[in-house]
Amino acid sequence: MYPGRGPRRKTLVTGGAGFVGSHLVEYLLELGEDVVVLDDLSTGSTRNLAGVADHPRLEMIHGSILNPQTVAQAMRTCDRVFHLAAAVGVKLIVEQPLRGLRINIHGTENVLTAAIEQQASVLLVSTSEVYGKNTADRLREDSDRVLGDPLLSRWTYAGAKGIDEAFAKAYHDQEGLEVSIVRLFNTVGPRQTGRYGMVLPNLVGQALRGAPLTVFGDGLQTRCFSAVDDVVPAMVDIERDPRSRGQAYNLGGAREISILDLAREIIRTLDSRSEIQLVPYEQAYAPGFEDMRRRVPDNTKAHDLVGYEPRTPLTTTIMRVAADLLARERLGSDAMPLVGAFRGVN
Ligand SMILES: NC(=O)c1ccc[n+]([C@@H]2O[C@H](COP(=O)([O-])OP(=O)(O)OC[C@H]3O[C@@H](n4cnc5c(N)ncnc54)[C@H](O)[C@@H]3O)[C@@H](O)[C@H]2O)c1
Repeated sequence: MYPGRGPRRKTLVTGGAGFVGSHLVEYLLELGEDVVVLDDLSTGSTRNLAGVADHPRLEMIHGSILNPQTVAQAMRTCDRVFHLAAAVGVKLIVEQPLRGLRINIHGTENVLTAAIEQQASVLLVSTSEVYGKNTADRLREDSDRVLGDPLLSRWTYAGAKGIDEAFAKAYHDQEGLEVSIVRLFNTVGPRQTGRYGMVLPNLVGQALRGAPLTVFGDGLQTRCFSAVDDVVPAMVDIERDPRSRGQAYNLGGAREISILDLAREIIRTLDSRSEIQLVPYEQAYAPGFEDMRRRVPDNTKAHDLVGYEPRTPLTTTIMRVAADLLARERLGSDAMPLVGAFRGVN
């Protein structure tokens, strides 16, 4: 605990205009919190926050976590930070590894050091990618990391997020930072964009267009998708629980499904005429691209702490994502003229 900390103030959400961040911001506002969003709108969009843009308890700041002054200024009135801003998505990371490393390592350290200055608590949002190629039946938080060649840009995201976690733990142990960590496993839902390589919105978009659903490799690689609506309340509950300090928690789905079966389920759910087309990884990304065959979480630790249980069926999420993509298409674009609502600080 920070000694002598005053009454509750505002909550900062970095990356609050992104997919997960925007759902978190809406949830915090519903809870009656005052929220400050810091986002550079690189992969996020003001459109994601259109439903709350005029909310009296929401302040939006357009700026980068790479700028320490911007971060310090955004955190000035806050005593809690949900840190989600990151370069995310396999495609983005493979194409721009340097940018990803800078944002995900230097940007995160800026957030952690500003939090110490402000005596703010932090929820660091990490990823199941940190487990790499470990195909264990149910990955526990203390499972080994099995990463490929560090010279392959594909592994830089896992490397950077692993360093973020190590930074967070070191600041906790050595400087008393109140920090908790969650590792998200393929979180899905409305507003997730397929532009940076996310599989579910890509396949749903293809099914809606009647185009072939492009499945990489042999399609037998498996994942456990979790609905953003299940994950966000658990993130807030974990952050609130003082027992979570210095700890990491998996937040994943319950059902293991191959990407081939996911494609079939999307076609069935949306009654699409599309077919499935297998695409070699080398063609989708680059020669030597590696993926993990399997990624299955053990959610026991989060369940025992805050009662986390992934409840939303995958078909429900597929329908919600489809409805969202259709609505966006009707609006014509991802970017709405809401940029004026953002206050630039750098
Ligand atoms: N969606 C998933 O399945 C998943 C899985 C594991 C972990 N995560 C983690 O969850 C968090 C949110 O991911 P998401 O899926 O919502 O992706 P997203 O791309 O929608 O969100 C990231 C947000 O961060 C912002 N951002 C990027 N660089 C920034 C910078 N330098 N300064 C300020 N803002 C910046 C982007 O504009 C965007 O709004 C990330 O930390 C990601 O690593 C997500």
